[in-house]
Amino acid sequence: MSNLIVLGAQWGDEGKGKIVDLFADRFHYVARYQGGHNAGHTVQVGGNKFVLKLLPSGVLHPHVSVVIGNGVVIDPAALLDEIEMLHKAGIETAGRIAISSRAHVIFPFHRLVEKVSENRADRVAIGTTLRGIGPCYEDKIGRRGIRIADLLDENIFDTLYGYLADDKQILARAFKVEGEIHYDEICAKYREYANVLRPYVCDTARLLNSAIRDGKRVLFEGAQGTMLDIDHGTYPFVTSSSAAAGGACTGSGVAPTRIDGIIGVSKAYITRVGSGPFPSEDTGEAGDWIRKAGHEFGSVTGRPRRCGWFDAPLLRYTAMVNGFDTLIVTKLDVLDNLPEIKVCVGYESKGRRVDDMPATNALLAEIAPVYETLPGWAQPTAGITRYGDLPSRARDYVEFLESQTGVEVGCVSTGPDRLHTIVRSGSKLESLLG
Ligand code: GDP
Ligand code: IMO
Ligand code: MG
Repeated sequence: MSNLIVLGAQWGDEGKGKIVDLFADRFHYVARYQGGHNAGHTVQVGGNKFVLKLLPSGVLHPHVSVVIGNGVVIDPAALLDEIEMLHKAGIETAGRIAISSRAHVIFPFHRLVEKVSENRADRVAIGTTLRGIGPCYEDKIGRRGIRIADLLDENIFDTLYGYLADDKQILARAFKVEGEIHYDEICAKYREYANVLRPYVCDTARLLNSAIRDGKRVLFEGAQGTMLDIDHGTYPFVTSSSAAAGGACTGSGVAPTRIDGIIGVSKAYITRVGSGPFPSEDTGEAGDWIRKAGHEFGSVTGRPRRCGWFDAPLLRYTAMVNGFDTLIVTKLDVLDNLPEIKVCVGYESKGRRVDDMPATNALLAEIAPVYETLPGWAQPTAGITRYGDLPSRARDYVEFLESQTGVEVGCVSTGPDRLHTIVRSGSKLESLLG
């Protein structure tokens, strides 16, 4: 039995949603383990496009149950909107969604505090999604957060909400936004949410562990990407949770010994939304070209994504941190019409080779990427479903990425739809999927 983790190998938006949706029907459960509605996972089935933010991408398959694990932060309004969006599209969710009683709750004042701190004139903004994610995790780590289980118990909620409101009042006063928070209204609204959410809530660690014991399969869906991980990413230009593989265990209550494989997802190039270092960024014509061809605009905030060339040292680093068994390369088709394609194969700083991922942004800013230029294939690959049908130069490109990263490319994606996918026969990925 295989329980697998699918997660982002770059700075997010690698196409995780498409891949999780594609493989989901081989699993009984798909579980999210971190992040919140800062994620935007696009799933395209036929002519229909869904952008999932909190619900795992497996939710579109009627026989798959989805779990929002303890490591996720939940804005109840966002979650209920998403459930409604699915109902309107005719997707039945009854009995298929489980929410962890230990997940933390996002409140409107989290968003407000974030907006103020992102706009401080004397600080560098992270360029967050302004969804209150960071401030909610701050309260979690500060041990004053409110969890779903606390929300459901009226007495506990009243006490904890009182404490949290007191703390936020101090902060709001300091930031001069105290008039903008209506504590009583928020409290009343969240009491209503508690009643609506109650039927979905359970001990999801127990649910998943019992399922695994009974021989059922779980697919863990990462949000964001490893370079946005709070520990391993380009700190402080990161998100506030553990997006890397280890987060799947802490964020779900399933032990590392129960995980059978780890799948990294990477674009055939690279993008980033928000501020922070980006060694292989192309701020010129090629970057603009990729943005246009790849429709590289954020699925949550609509911001243009910064674009650049595939960064092999970065991938080697994320492969190390996550222990990737296999890599899925998405959006190969976006490069179809480029005469030449650059790949960053190494880092240099002040004329010397840099083998490790620098820990500070100052050091990262000094990195000069070493590029190799490969010929483009100048033929359409969009929609191709067999590896042998790819133009030989496109295969050479995929195999070059494989040799540069040291990880097999088990799957290539050639379009946004489920069908536009090649799983390579004889790959480790194929055997993991079973
Ligand atoms: P995620 O956050 O990792 O799930 O990725 P996003 O959904 O934010 O962004 C990926 C975008 O690329 C979405 O619009 C997908 O529909 C699209 N996409 C995924 N795979 C492919 C592919 O192979 N080719 C093309 N052209 N688009 C793709
Ligand atoms: P998916 O799951 C790309 C980025 C934000 C910002 C930083 C911190 O779709 O890949 P946050 O609101 O999380 O505190 O913002 O992280 N970011 C993402 N970038 N894809 C995402 O999710 C992201 N989620 C957060 O742009 O730079
Ligand atoms: Mg996304």
